[in-house]
Amino acid sequence: MYNDKVLGHFENPRNVGVIENADGIGEVGSPVCGDMMYFYIKVENDKLVDVKFKTFGCAAAIAVSSMASEMAIGMSLDEAMKITSSDVAKELGGLPERKLHCSNLGADALHKAIENYRGKNTKD
Ligand code: FES
Repeated sequence: MYNDKVLGHFENPRNVGVIENADGIGEVGSPVCGDMMYFYIKVENDKLVDVKFKTFGCAAAIAVSSMASEMAIGMSLDEAMKITSSDVAKELGGLPERKLHCSNLGADALHKAIENYRGKNTKD
């Protein structure tokens, strides 16, 4: 039911792990299935120089995390905030209908990590 690209990212996910002293951390849980995803980001000059993730979830969620992290590395924070779950699903060549909720997690966790970083770095 998964295409080869999704299976490739599931079997060989890119950027798995934790960044020690991450500049931002995003955590999301799926209300549909209870799976969890954590994104860790490293920021330099307003750019994502490193993105890693830990996903406790289904094959689609792992493939989505892998793809979202790959898309985001090298982007500015503003660019990465514009990545949508459908962008990630599209880059993966599509996901089965009943797995679309899984694709929300990647973009959400990434955005939360950026918001976490921005919250810490807001000077008022
Ligand atoms: Fe839970 Fe996919 S079934 S994220």
